[in-house]
Amino acid sequence: MRVLSGIQPTGNLHLGNYLGAIRNWVRMQDEMTGDAQCFFFLADMHSITVHEGREQRIRNVRDMAAALVAAGIDPDRSVLFNQARVPAHAELCWLLNGTARIGWLNRMTQFKDKVGKDREGASIGLFVYPVLQAADILVYNATHVPVGEDQKQHLELARDIATKFNTDFGVELFTLPDPIIPRESARIMSLRDGTAKMSKSDPSDMSRVNLTDDDDAIVQKVKKAKTDPEPLPETAEGLAGRPEANNLVGIYATLSGTTADAVCAEFAGKGFGAFKPALGELLVETLRPIRTRFMELRTDDAALDAILEKGAAKAAAAADPTLRAAYDAMGLMR
Ligand code: ADP
Ligand code: TRP
Repeated sequence: MRVLSGIQPTGNLHLGNYLGAIRNWVRMQDEMTGDAQCFFFLADMHSITVHEGREQRIRNVRDMAAALVAAGIDPDRSVLFNQARVPAHAELCWLLNGTARIGWLNRMTQFKDKVGKDREGASIGLFVYPVLQAADILVYNATHVPVGEDQKQHLELARDIATKFNTDFGVELFTLPDPIIPRESARIMSLRDGTAKMSKSDPSDMSRVNLTDDDDAIVQKVKKAKTDPEPLPETAEGLAGRPEANNLVGIYATLSGTTADAVCAEFAGKGFGAFKPALGELLVETLRPIRTRFMELRTDDAALDAILEKGAAKAAAAADPTLRAAYDAMGLMR
C-alpha cells in the first residue's frame, strides 16, 4: 500500500481547504502502520496553469507546506515535498505524453470547465495537466490516492495511461491506482451563499473562514453568516431547500465527527441565535492550535525549505527506479 496525494499551493487557505483536503491526509497518515509512508506534495508544477507572480508563487508553496505541517502532517513520518524539486514528475510526464491520447484528454471535464468558451486561448499546460497528474501518481506506484470527487476522472485517466503503457511496451511497470474519496466528502459552502463553494476567490472575506483569522474574526463571521428565520429541524431531512442552514449544520457535524442528523437532534427547535455561538466556539477551538502553529512556521522560511528539500530527496529516491524502468522500456538510453 502506498498513499500519495497532491494539492495545488494556492494562497489564502480557508476552512474548505482544511476540511475538504488537508484533514483527510492527516487521517491517512495517522492510520499508517509500521514503516509505511505517505507521500504528500505541493503541486507547484501544476500551478503554472494559473498565472502568478514569482514572489507570490514562492510564498504559496511555503504557506501550503506550513499549513500541512500545522494541521498535523509530520515530515518525519510522511514524505512532504514540492513537485518542482523532484524532476522525475516532469520527466515521466513527457514519456507519458507519448501514451496519452488527445481523445482521452478532450473528455476531461475539469479542462472543459476551466477553459469555458476560450478553448483556443487556453494553455497547453492546462490541457496536459492530467498527464502530469498521472506521472505524479505512477512514478511512485501509488496504490491509494485520497482526492475529492472532482478528481475521479483524472484518476481513471491515470489508470488508462498505466494500462496502455504496460501493454504497448510489454511490461508490468505501473501499478493501477485507486482513488480514495471520503464517503461524505466535506464540501464547505460560502457563509454568505449556501449554494456557492467557500473559495479564496470570493470577493467577500466574510464568505470564508481563513486559516489566519483570529478567534474574534471567526466568531464574527459565524455570527454574520447568512441563515433563515426557521429553527433547526429534528432531522437532516428538514434542511432540504435551506442551503445556508445545511452548510452550517454540515460544518458543525464535520468538526465534531458526528452526522447532520445528530446535530439536528441536539439543536432541534432552537434558532440560529443559539446554534451560531456553539458553532463559533467549535471552530475557534479546532482552528486555534492550527493557526498558532501555522503563523509560527510561516515566519521561518529556511526551516520550511529544509523540510521540503529533505522530503524531495526521499521522493526522488523512491521515484528513480520506476523512472529508469520507463526510459528503459521505451528504449531510451539514460
Ligand atoms: P479555492 O476554491 O479556494 O480556489 P482550490 O481549488 O485551490 O481552492 O482547492 C485546494 C484544495 O482544497 C482542493 O483539494 C479542493 O478540493 C479543496 N477545497 C477547496 N475549497 C473547498 C471547499 N469549499 N470545500 C471542500 N474542499 C475544498
Ligand atoms: N489535481 C489535483 C487537484 O486539483 C491536485 C493533484 C496534482 C493531485 N497531482 C496529483 C492529486 C496527484 C492527487 C494525485 O486537487
